[in-house]
Amino acid sequence: MRKRIILDCDPGHDDAIAILLARGCPEIELVAITTVAGNQTLDKTTLNARRVCTVAGIHDVPIFAGSWRPLKRPQITAPEIHGTSGLDGPAFGEPTVGVQDENAVDYLVRTLMAEGEGITLVPVGPLTNVAAALRREPRIAERTREVVLMGGAYTRGNRTPAAEFNMLADPEAAAIVFGAGWPLTMIGLDLTHQAVASGEVVQKIRAMGTDVSRMVTGLLEFYGASYRRSGVAGAGLGPPVHDPCAVARVARPDLIAVQDAFVAVETRGEWTSGMTVTDFRGSLGHPHNAKVATTLDAEGFWDLMLTALQTFGGPAGEGLG
Ligand code: RIB
Ligand code: CA
Repeated sequence: MRKRIILDCDPGHDDAIAILLARGCPEIELVAITTVAGNQTLDKTTLNARRVCTVAGIHDVPIFAGSWRPLKRPQITAPEIHGTSGLDGPAFGEPTVGVQDENAVDYLVRTLMAEGEGITLVPVGPLTNVAAALRREPRIAERTREVVLMGGAYTRGNRTPAAEFNMLADPEAAAIVFGAGWPLTMIGLDLTHQAVASGEVVQKIRAMGTDVSRMVTGLLEFYGASYRRSGVAGAGLGPPVHDPCAVARVARPDLIAVQDAFVAVETRGEWTSGMTVTDFRGSLGHPHNAKVATTLDAEGFWDLMLTALQTFGGPAGEGLG
């Protein structure tokens, strides 16, 4: 039985690869893509989702644009990692895949209320859309099969020592999502830093010789250079592909070990806003509200990824410059 997912994203290099993994995995049906401001502004993240789907020939998955700014905080973006366009690297032509008129938050509420018991929501950007949907209709928390999100960390952040980018971009939204009581899995940096796109992996992708492989290698080259410039430990081995890990958890739960925990999102800390305070041992006296990812079967992950990328056959002939 294929798992039906809605991917809420802020493309973003790793978001782009998450879209391709979701589409290429036989275990998954990509029902829709919703976009949110994050790595770049909403207009750019939405255009980037259209670009990726155009190159990949994905014309039957609707794209809905959502929140253009966080619930309360000033917007932050990540041009130092993803570039001015949010998807720097490949030269993209004009996308032929469009965007729906309906706002992503309206779409999430409508769809999760109607058929949420069969849908896994996979947010891989700031949680603004998801929190707005919860505020609009709290009952989606009872009707959604589960949430598997990329974000947070139980060791240390990446945008600040305490906070991972998606959580820091909208801590109030994240607190709402972690407090909603739905089945939730957190795929944090502790896990995603095990998913490194090494030179060997990039070479295998390049050897596929398709438009999609050309796009992905272009993305990984730019993304890898950004990581090397950032000075993140281990960046020399290759960039971590964060967002596809959330998709992999849905497709093949056996690839990612998880541990029950209580996770609280800090929203008032002077230095720690956006921190996902993760309590595995019950020392805070709160019941578990999340499964937290700890260990990746990296070989199995890359087998899954490469197999998925192979499903995008020869040159689609559109979308890449
Ligand atoms: O911290 C990594 C996360 O922030 C990823 O989702 C990346 O795309 C950015 O959104
Ligand atoms: Ca993202």
